[in-house]
Amino acid sequence: MKGTVHFHDLHPPVADLKTEVLIGLASQPKTISPKFFYDEYGSQLFDQITELPEYYPTRTEISILEEHGKEMISLLGKDCLLIELGSGSSLKIRLLLNALQPAAYMPIDICKAHLLKSAHILANDYPNLDIHATCADYSDHFHLPYDPNDKPKAVFFPGSSIGNFDPPQAQNLLQRVADFLGSGSTLLIGVDLKKDQERLNAAYNDAAGVTAAFNFNLLTRINQELNADFDLSRFNHHAFYNEQQGRIEMHLVSQVSHEVQVDGQRFQFEEGESIHTENSYKYTVTQFQNLASEVGFQPIQVWSDSDALFSVHCLRVE
Ligand code: AVI
Repeated sequence: MKGTVHFHDLHPPVADLKTEVLIGLASQPKTISPKFFYDEYGSQLFDQITELPEYYPTRTEISILEEHGKEMISLLGKDCLLIELGSGSSLKIRLLLNALQPAAYMPIDICKAHLLKSAHILANDYPNLDIHATCADYSDHFHLPYDPNDKPKAVFFPGSSIGNFDPPQAQNLLQRVADFLGSGSTLLIGVDLKKDQERLNAAYNDAAGVTAAFNFNLLTRINQELNADFDLSRFNHHAFYNEQQGRIEMHLVSQVSHEVQVDGQRFQFEEGESIHTENSYKYTVTQFQNLASEVGFQPIQVWSDSDALFSVHCLRVE
């Protein structure tokens, strides 16, 4: 027996690599959005990052979910519609599904192929599960394609993906989540914590160089897809904790003054000039609770590990 998979395609607009890269490289400072990290090879590199000894967030969040899953489930409420934002391989949700029998599970992901594959694997393993796989861009405006009105709703948003949004964008996203969830609904969200800078810097500068390869893959991708001539050996991976902003910043820094051609346009790089490729914000528990409260979420509970590396928050829409 196999669970049921329903598919809802909201046809998310495909991000336009060319337009965004040309605008980003013409800006001062130069930027490229981190959403372009995740082509097939970039997604594989990210999976490798999550297993690195220095990259503590994934394994720490999993240990928190394993230890406190029962309590989390009691707060989500049995028989809820359980929605996951950016569900990917739907691995972490298993830690909740093993003890929770939701009315339905709605994984939301922008990558249709990955979404459907993961949904069918999950349906095989959870024979009673009603799955509403939804292809959508959760960071953009969208509606819930399936909404059993009589059921409580809960959103699971793990991985500290919220940290890759600047705080005002993060609040916008949380506001939209609150709007589609409605009053009384629950949000279970993973948030990376502020901590000593040595540990933060190590997590984004691993000894094996996988994070550097993940960063460089942006240039490889642009070379392949936009007929560009980035010479990777002229750039350095640079990741550091910016204490004032409370975030890890990732950059690709040009070692020499030179010119690069992308889709027929020329871009000048000075020695030491960078392309800013990612921010990863870190919060204290109180900072994140305040950010969420301002857009209508009441903090209910928060769990952390014994080293206070990572947090999982339960919040309720007021
Ligand atoms: C997906 N996101 C939460 C990761 C992070 O830690 O900000 C992306 C990442 N970038 C470099 N390493 C991991």
